[in-house]
Amino acid sequence: MKIFKFFFHVVVFSSIIFHVNAHNVTHDSRSIIIDGTHRIILSGSIHYPRSTAQKAKEGGLDAVETYVFWNAHEPIENEYGNVMKPYGEDGKSYINWCAQMADSMDIGVPWIMCQQAGAPKPMTPIPLKCELKIGLDDPLRTAEDLAFSVARFFQKGGTLQNYYMYHGGTNFGRTLGGLYMTTSYDYNAPLDEYGNLNQPKWGHLKQLHDVLHSIEYTLTHGDVHTQKLDNSVTATVYQTNDKSSCFLSNSNTTTDVNVNFGGIDYFVPAWSISILPDCRKGAYNTANVYAQTSMMIKKSNKAEDEPDSLKWTWRPELIESASVQGKGDVSVNRIVIKRYGK
Ligand SMILES: *[C@@H]1O[C@H](CO)[C@@H](O)[C@H](O)[C@H]1NC(C)=O
Ligand SMILES: *[C@@H]1O[C@H](CO)[C@@H](O)[C@H](O)[C@H]1NC(C)=O
Repeated sequence: MKIFKFFFHVVVFSSIIFHVNAHNVTHDSRSIIIDGTHRIILSGSIHYPRSTAQKAKEGGLDAVETYVFWNAHEPIENEYGNVMKPYGEDGKSYINWCAQMADSMDIGVPWIMCQQAGAPKPMTPIPLKCELKIGLDDPLRTAEDLAFSVARFFQKGGTLQNYYMYHGGTNFGRTLGGLYMTTSYDYNAPLDEYGNLNQPKWGHLKQLHDVLHSIEYTLTHGDVHTQKLDNSVTATVYQTNDKSSCFLSNSNTTTDVNVNFGGIDYFVPAWSISILPDCRKGAYNTANVYAQTSMMIKKSNKAEDEPDSLKWTWRPELIESASVQGKGDVSVNRIVIKRYGK
């Protein structure tokens, strides 16, 4: 069960593109190009020991983002941490070696070095803060609102996006960061911590992914025009020589709007985006959920109804390894929120 001990000191963005035969990967200002074809990429964060990518693939994702679990791969803490500072010149030459090794693989996509000030060329240094807040209460985000954000990103020219998390989960044992911390990663994700489809979210997003994939060509090649149709409604047209695809977004959070666009009347609900793959007929609206809704009912354990039959014993817990970074005693009377990264 050691593999389920997760410490996210460093998150490695490692997309596994499902098209395994694709080998020429490059990019331009519009999108990632795989074997000469501009692609839009829908990705989701999954902890690889928790689930296979199958349900993500069925949900219309092209890629998964996954992690290196340092406590499994690096049993001695910070064995491979940021080496520049503590190792001085040796650290510097090691980083240079890494950069050259990565570059020599000539994979055609930019390399990014996270949290490494002064990263050597050809690395792209980004002051990325791998910040993670743990210990939140039960998060909830509606399928409609999530779909709105994703659709808006693509309306504005985005071509690669990732869900954090796509499959949530719980870390059993006191391994998430310390004492008194909630250990759920559920995040109200499209796949819940038991691996069940969180409906209607999973299905509503799948429909969005399918529509976005169907207009991949216009999204990645079309000339883009935007037009304000109303105080809160904006039309965005992606126009190629032979095809066009449109988005109609209504940013008013409370008021539905009727607009005329290209001679056709459209009803755009409050806080929603309609996607018109041919700029005429709406194929998807982020606020109209047609996916099946499922209700998961958490039932209390039967044993809790029969407390008399339970025998409680108490024993002290060995907490050396669970206390703050393995050091020192802690005493708190509240939930601890630990932030990773600096
Ligand atoms: C990969 O694609 C780029 C851009 O489409 C092209 O210039 C290059 O020759 C291709 N490389 C290989 C090995 O096919
Ligand atoms: C939404 O629309 C209503 C009615 O037109 C208007 O009163 C309100 O100010 C709008 N809200 C925003 C945030 O634009």
